[in-house]
Parts: sequence; structure tokens; C-alpha cells
Amino acid sequence: MNTAIKKVSKLSAKDNIVLLANKNSDFKPYGFSDKELKYVVDQVYKKKSEIVTINRYERVIFVVPIDRKGEVHKVYERARTDAFEILAEANKHNVKALTVVDVESNDDIVKAFVEGLCLSNYRFLKYFKDAKERESSLQTVNILASGIEKADIDLLNAVVEGTLLARDLVNEPLSYLTAPQLSKEIQAAGKKAGFNVEVFNKSKIESLKMGGLLAVNKGSVDPPTFNILEWKPAKAKNKKPIVFVGKGVVYDTGGLSLKPTKGSMDMMKCDMGGAAAVAGALYAIAKAKLPVHVIGLIPATDNRPGGNAYAPGDVIKMHNGMTVEVLNTDAEGRMILADALSYAQKYEPEMVIDLATLTGAAVAAIGKYGIVAMGTASEKEKNKLKDSGRRVYERLVEFPFWDEYGDLIKSEIADIKNIGGPHAGSITAGKFLEKFTQYPWMHFDIAGPAWVEGGDNYRGKGGTGVGVRILFDYIKSI
Ligand code: BES
Ligand code: ZN
Ligand code: ZN
Repeated sequence: MNTAIKKVSKLSAKDNIVLLANKNSDFKPYGFSDKELKYVVDQVYKKKSEIVTINRYERVIFVVPIDRKGEVHKVYERARTDAFEILAEANKHNVKALTVVDVESNDDIVKAFVEGLCLSNYRFLKYFKDAKERESSLQTVNILASGIEKADIDLLNAVVEGTLLARDLVNEPLSYLTAPQLSKEIQAAGKKAGFNVEVFNKSKIESLKMGGLLAVNKGSVDPPTFNILEWKPAKAKNKKPIVFVGKGVVYDTGGLSLKPTKGSMDMMKCDMGGAAAVAGALYAIAKAKLPVHVIGLIPATDNRPGGNAYAPGDVIKMHNGMTVEVLNTDAEGRMILADALSYAQKYEPEMVIDLATLTGAAVAAIGKYGIVAMGTASEKEKNKLKDSGRRVYERLVEFPFWDEYGDLIKSEIADIKNIGGPHAGSITAGKFLEKFTQYPWMHFDIAGPAWVEGGDNYRGKGGTGVGVRILFDYIKSI
């Protein structure tokens, strides 16, 4: 559910409140009794608990001690995870509205806290009969903080809504979200946020000779789509656009190189996590009216072993004219991304970033804790992205991208093959994509954090919407 965020200028005696306080804050204005005050001080400073709850029946008061020690991105992340805990408490007390009070001047922390609260407040309930009963009680977050302006709240709303859109898309199963349906959802999002959407159908994709996307789609009943999302504000700061490319495999069975079910195929509705991140980012950027020209490209299809499915051994001619020997039909993400990456060239982009749930090797390497990154962008641009990643805690881990890894995808029969050897699987996938890029480019393999089965704090259960916040922060920083 979308949580309403409002700015307020005073407290009333019945408000449920969260006090974001420093160690030496004055708690007197908040009407604590001496006993309560002693309790708060004891809990916070002697027992060093993260949050303190005071239940007064007609209202609940939470105290979150703010500790600015340590790296600033960790301070922000602590605010988000504290918010997750408080939301759980607030729900136990059936709290409908919560007022976040900035006791000291902690604007940046207030923003991180409210973001954490709203992201924690998400549920995917569409398919429950008793969805109403399962909803979170919290509906409104009020902010009492002199440093927070309406503009800040607009930015918060934009990025939260974008992230939740991405989660919804990832959580939707294939029984609903086919490639054509994904296009409809993107069009609806474009209408709502104000960005333009163009959808290419199968015959247009054929005329563009997108051989990779068409090959992956061959075993499917549903047609593929190729989606172009564009946010072009009148006074854009950039002359050449920034292009995001998202892997839109709405379901990955592996194709003829079929995946086993348990722990492997069963969660593969998440394989359009890159597409969801791109759609969510464009939504947020357009909603916030950021003055940057951004384009999103989303090739979409499912990957199935149906009648005419592409087969190991096939040689496919791609959109840019290169040939690919397919040795594993489960390495389908790179096939569809390659066509989108070579299509991106026509925009003469300043920078291209692709996001994809691309390899199990990325999950094996770093798990859900970060994004595996590599590419040819300048050090300066890489550093900007890494800074954004730390700030929003969608951290980038840069992998080596040495030329030698490119040797592992040489083919005996075609220009390249679609798998490397048993080693460095995320990097050989990246090297494959690199062949289709002719501009500064970064590849984000989000296979680890895009889908978290048991849930990951404020990031939610199942689809996390990872990617939206880092892209939004990056564009905001331009
Ligand atoms: N969609 C998968 C990668 C994936 C794995 C995403 C786990 C999320 C969680 C991708 O299409 C795939 O199957 N990759 C293969 C590549 C291999 C055949 C070279 C893999 O990683 O095993
Ligand atoms: Zn696959
Ligand atoms: Zn896949």
C-alpha cells in the first residue's frame, strides 16, 4: 500500500510519535512523566537499545536515539532499519498514523527514516481473498521537522512509489505478467508519472532484426515486446541522453537447457527484475521532474522450451550483425540485452547502464548484499555510481573486467558463444554484453538482491525493487 507522507507543524496530545533524538536531547516538551523519562534515559544510554517504546494506550511513543558515529551511509541505513522495526511495533498497536519528530536537526536522517518506513509498509496482497485483513495498519506518516520542505517530500514520494512499482512487477507471476502485459503496465506507469512509452510488437522487432530477442522467444506462445521509455524534460542538464537497459525475461524456465524446479526455476518470475528497476526508476525520475534526459530500453519475453524453441548449437544473428553460438539456452538474458544494447547506440548516449538478474554466479559471489558491477565507464563516473550505491545502500561491487576474460567466449563457429567456462560466470556474461556496446557503459548484475525469499528488512519479501533507488540517486546527483 502507498503510505501518505505529510508535513505538519505541530503535535497534538494523541499523536503516535517517533522521536528522532540525539543523546543529549531534551525530552521535556513531549510530556513524559519523570518515571518515563528515567525509563527512556536508562534504555537508551545505559542499555543502549536501538529503540524505546512507551505504550500509553491512547498513543504510542517511540524514541530512536540517533548516533552519528561511523560512516554516514551506515548512519542512514540504520535509520531505515530502525524504521522497519518501528513499523512492526506500530502494526502491533494498530497505529494508523505516525508522526516523525526531528528533535534535533537531522533532516537527512529523517528522510532516510521515512523512506525506510514507507518501504517497510509494502505488502503484495493482490492474490489473497482476505487482502483487507492482511493490510498494514499504518496509512499516514506525518513529518514534524523544520528542515523538511514540500520538495523533499515530493522526492521521497517519487522514489518510494518507483520502488514499490518495481516490487509489484517482480512479484506478479507469469500467469498475469506476460511480455505484452508488462508493456501495458509500463504504459500505465508512463501515463501516471508523465514519461513517454513506445512499444514495438513482434513484427517491428523482426524488421529491426533483433535476433537475440526473437531466438529466446521462439519456444513461447506469447509474443515478445521491446519497450522504449523516455523522460525528456524541456531544460535537461544533459545534451546526450542517459540510457537504462533492463532485462525483461518475464519467466525463465531455462528453455531447452531446462532448470530444475526447486530453488532454481520456482522463483524465476523475478527474471524481469532489471526491467522493473528501469520502469521504477523512470517513474520516479519523471514523477520528481528531475531535469535530466533519460531513456529506458526493455526487451521482454519469457524463456520456454516450447515447440520451436532455440536449441543448444544454434547460431543466431544479432541486431548488430554479429553471430552468436548458443551453447546454453539458459544464458538467455545476455541474448536479449545484447540487442537492446546495440539498439541504444542510435541515441549516441552519454552513458548506458544495464540492469539484469543475469547470473547465478553473482549470487554465489556476494549474495543479496550488493550489486555485481563492471563496465567501461570512466573512473569518475564509476565513482559517482558507487557513491550513489552507498548512499541508498544498494552497494556496487566492481568485478575485474580484464581482456583475458573475453577469450573465454570465443567460438569455433560464430563470432562469440553465449557461455564461458565454469569460472567467472558473471564476468564472462559481462564480456558478452560488452561486444554490443560502443559508449561509456556499466553492467549491474542484480541477481542476488532482486529477489529475497525470506525478506530483507525494509527491502521487503520477494521482489525488492533493487536498482530504482541507486538510479534515482545517480540522476538526482547530475
Ligand atoms: N536468470 C538466470 C540467473 C539467475 C539466477 C537470476 C539466480 C536470479 C537468481 C539466468 O538467465 C541464468 O540462468 N544464468 C545461467 C547462465 C549460465 C547458463 C551460463 C546461470 O547463472 O546459471
Ligand atoms: Zn537463464
Ligand atoms: Zn534469466
